Amino acid sequence: MEMQGIDKAFDSVAACVNCQFELRSGEVHALIGENGAGKSTLMKILAGVYKKDAGTISLRGQQVDIPNPHAAQVLGITMIHQELNLMPHLTVAQNIFIGREPRSPIPYLLDDAKINQQAKELLASLNLHFNPKMRVGGLTVARQQMVEITKALSYNSQVLIMDEPTAALTESESEELFHMINRLRDKGIGIVYISHRLEEIKRISDRVTVMRDGHYIATKLTADISIDEMISLMVGRTIYESKPEIPDHASPDIVLEVRNLNRGRELQDVNFSLKRGEILGLAGLMGAGRTEVARAIVGADPVDSIDLTVNGRKVHIRSPKDAVQHGIGYLSEDRKRYGLITGMDVANNVGMASLRKFLRAFGIIDDTRVSEAAQQQVKALAVKTPSVKQKVRNLSGGNQQKVVIAKWLTADTDILIFDEPTRGIDVGAKSEIYKLLNELARQGKSIIMISSELPEILRMSHRIIVMCEGRITGELSSNEATQERIMQYATQRGGMVTALEESA
Ligand SMILES: Nc1ncnc2c1ncn2[C@@H]1O[C@H](COP(=O)(O)OP(=O)(O)OP(=O)(O)O)[C@@H](O)[C@H]1O
Ligand SMILES: [Mg+2]
Repeated sequence: MEMQGIDKAFDSVAACVNCQFELRSGEVHALIGENGAGKSTLMKILAGVYKKDAGTISLRGQQVDIPNPHAAQVLGITMIHQELNLMPHLTVAQNIFIGREPRSPIPYLLDDAKINQQAKELLASLNLHFNPKMRVGGLTVARQQMVEITKALSYNSQVLIMDEPTAALTESESEELFHMINRLRDKGIGIVYISHRLEEIKRISDRVTVMRDGHYIATKLTADISIDEMISLMVGRTIYESKPEIPDHASPDIVLEVRNLNRGRELQDVNFSLKRGEILGLAGLMGAGRTEVARAIVGADPVDSIDLTVNGRKVHIRSPKDAVQHGIGYLSEDRKRYGLITGMDVANNVGMASLRKFLRAFGIIDDTRVSEAAQQQVKALAVKTPSVKQKVRNLSGGNQQKVVIAKWLTADTDILIFDEPTRGIDVGAKSEIYKLLNELARQGKSIIMISSELPEILRMSHRIIVMCEGRITGELSSNEATQERIMQYATQRGGMVTALEESA
């Protein structure tokens, strides 16, 4: 497959300018670049989601036209978007065969037995052994992804595009995906792999193409390029990763105390406190209960019991709105579902959690001030958008994440819970966000940071608590913490070994 001279503009934004990309069969070709570089756009053109303004696409030397996703499918090109496109209420088999189910002899009835059998064979051919009759909504994200891949292969796809496939996967799930990718490569399928995780790219790709600001920059053999070189091609400058130094501004004042937090088997007797000016890392494997703790604190989910003290006062928080009133903001890991209203513009999303601040007389929102505040944040976080009037839906994935962060920075809450704040964010923006968190702590704000990336936890946290299976299994100060010690606690079932038990 070959793309040449591809242009694509959205109003005033040139998302792709004279771009090129080439894919061989049996190759894993990584596509990298900063947030908003144009990666998703270029691949959506190939998948028939967007119409190109100029350029050509050829398959096996033949020029082709791809006006819509169906045309792409017929040509054997499939894109697996980061937001998966499955129907949660249908079964695995129904999802795989959606729109082309074999009909049963009785008109208008689908032959479930037949599609279940076919789905089972397809899954087995990929070494996947789960029940085709299961509802997709009950599967993990990783398994849903496997279903999407199976579906793609059932169309005999020769080109498979994966847009940030590991962003929501655990480490072992990512491993499973890499095995799958290797098998597909062996079958001669060409794979486009978009990711911000450069170590991953180093490991599984054959070639790398770099984009910057909508332009094609270079294509290299992965074996010939180091991660540092990838970064400097992506950003067009060298980023000096400042040595992790953790300025500790934490005062002894406790701003938040969580006691006796229980919910069924998911959360068991969670107790901890947060100090003023502290960045508290919350580590653990996916599914350990970290997000559940955050959601319990802000009243997003019901719990069996929780005693919360904010600034020395007992409080009852029944909803995230209550939480904001008590000065607690929660930045969700799932920005599409909880963090943003994507049909609204950037300014209104940024202002959303702090409307009271922008009230004029008679309860009217001061739009000018909302816009100004938004503009300030857009500048501070380098959000790539033509203006604060742009709809959030039209921003690239990473830039949407920055808008969620901007929202909570504007809200002036004293306690901030950040759940996977840098997921999907490029290297340059990551270090900006780290600087910002440090600055917030310096100003006396208190932060709980949930992250699955251990280097990030180690680099940022003054103190780290680790969870496993709904319990806190360990606590480490920044100078005793290492990746190994965190992993040890993160895999330690059955709760914390107390000093007493240890001596006994
Ligand atoms: N539907 C759209 N309408 C308007 N602008 C858009 C649209 N889709 C993308 N853009 C803009 O085009 C540019 C490229 O976006 P794209 O989504 O391709 O970036 P990306 O490289 O995938 O970034 P990320 O790593 O953050 O996902 C961005 O400036 C984005 O705001
Ligand atoms: Mg993208």
